[in-house]
Amino acid sequence: MQPERDAKQRQLDADRVPLDDRTMTTDQGVPVDHTDDSLRAGTRGPTLMEDFHFREKLTRFDHERIPERVVHARGAGAYGVFQLYEPLGDLTTAAFLNDTSTPTPTFVRFSTVAGSRGSADTVRDVRGFATKFYTPEGNFDLVGNNFPVFFIQDGIKFPDFVHAVKPEPHNEIPQAQSAHDTFWDFIQLQPESLHMVMWLMSDRAIPRSFRMMQGFGVHTFRLVNASGQGTFVKWHWRPVLGTYSLVWEEVLRIQGNDPDYNRRDLWEAIERGAYPEYELCVQLVPESREHDFDFDLLDPTKIIPEEQVPLRPVGRMTLNRNPHNFFAETEQVAFHTANVVPGIDFSNDPLLQARNFSYLDTQLLRLGGPNFPQIPINRPVNEVRNDQRDGFHQHRIHESRTSYAPNSISGNRPAATDGYRHYQERVDGVKIRQRSPSFEDHYSQATLFWNSMADWEKRHIVAAFLFELGHVERPHIKEAMVRHLGRIHPDLAAPVAQGLGLPEPPRTEVHANASPALSMTGQPQSVA
Ligand code: HEM
Repeated sequence: MQPERDAKQRQLDADRVPLDDRTMTTDQGVPVDHTDDSLRAGTRGPTLMEDFHFREKLTRFDHERIPERVVHARGAGAYGVFQLYEPLGDLTTAAFLNDTSTPTPTFVRFSTVAGSRGSADTVRDVRGFATKFYTPEGNFDLVGNNFPVFFIQDGIKFPDFVHAVKPEPHNEIPQAQSAHDTFWDFIQLQPESLHMVMWLMSDRAIPRSFRMMQGFGVHTFRLVNASGQGTFVKWHWRPVLGTYSLVWEEVLRIQGNDPDYNRRDLWEAIERGAYPEYELCVQLVPESREHDFDFDLLDPTKIIPEEQVPLRPVGRMTLNRNPHNFFAETEQVAFHTANVVPGIDFSNDPLLQARNFSYLDTQLLRLGGPNFPQIPINRPVNEVRNDQRDGFHQHRIHESRTSYAPNSISGNRPAATDGYRHYQERVDGVKIRQRSPSFEDHYSQATLFWNSMADWEKRHIVAAFLFELGHVERPHIKEAMVRHLGRIHPDLAAPVAQGLGLPEPPRTEVHANASPALSMTGQPQSVA
């Protein structure tokens, strides 16, 4: 049964080019009757410059590629709808979080991070889980990952981190994210990464299916209600099918047999009507409780344990349509953490602040200039009205004789009564390049993660460390990593040290906060 066409699908209809049996034309609309031979002087002579059809065809081919994403280059997308369970007016004015009668159209792109566009799906890596909500008040992008934390605390480190993760500069080897010296060198010198590295060495880094994968907004964001009151929020996607991983031996086999494994699974499930579903949940923290935790809410290397702040389900997304054209839709989609709607705002997490600069900046290059929001997949479903103008690939014909404000010639646009208002937060401080001491603890939650694992999960983590660190050439990097693991848990460090032929680090006291009773995710992880 075909799902009902939503506002985004109806908008896209105007841009579709159906396959039909009408005759071919050039880009200028000139009919073409022969496309198999170039125009030449005699049957064996040189090709003639005047063959505009030949030149256009070759030129268009020569320019088909655009830069792949600088990270998250490999991905797969799908359309869906988001259905809200109950209005959240006490928390936010966002229209799509208050209207239960009309589902919000969405587009999701799942991705790996380190590999290039043609790399294999099932590598050990973080997975992107980016969602565009086409709301009546504009696009809201929830640009998340399948891990709830990140490698670094400040976005100024992102270029360093990605340079360490990507293949080494001299020979572009290795393609595997973590099996090389530069990655582990960065980690051993940057212990804030250790919590994320524990997730990366766990089976969470080899998801069985995009349909069985959690998503996290990672940062603390803010919801703002009609009285201007803010509430801190962490976003979570929970797959209705449950969270399942591959095991490493499967990964090794699948990469050879079907590098498109996750992409194919998503496509085929949607084609056969087994629509992937995810519940959107929130963890809410009143502003008054901001400092009630033994970590900083602004630190993206920390989770809020669910025992301290439980998850509240607020709605459900169903992915029910495959794209028609990979390039037009999945490749050209542009997500951005700063795409928020009234009632949703940022926190001062320094990683989030950096992302709010970086996505638009890179998309200006990747998608060829400032008019990429006009590309069909990126267009909001509501009308866009402003005085921006010109630029490469301008598709709209603005009829106004003026494009400035205020003006006395063609009238001013009335101010929106429901316009975006930034949360009124008092900000105070001296300009300083220094991290807050509240960001200093890098080990407790790594230990918490280890303690929350079942025995078989712990064995997989040890095996992953042995595989990845086993590829590291420089002994000092391996030794430093084993010392870090010793501070996370001696039961982790000992087998890794032994497997690498290194001395076991001295047993240090495990951090008092790392209670084994606290679960990391609220969902048991299992292999299928
Ligand atoms: C792309 C997530 C941190 C810069 C992406 C994508 C996701 C994502 C899901 C793929 C979007 C798509 O499918 O098109 C995250 C998460 C982060 C994080 C969850 C941390 C919590 C950062 C940071 C920066 C950054 C700190 C830079 C300061 C980028 C860039 C792209 C990207 C430049 C490519 C965007 C494009 O070309 O369209 N990220 N990211 N990310 N991310 Fe991040």
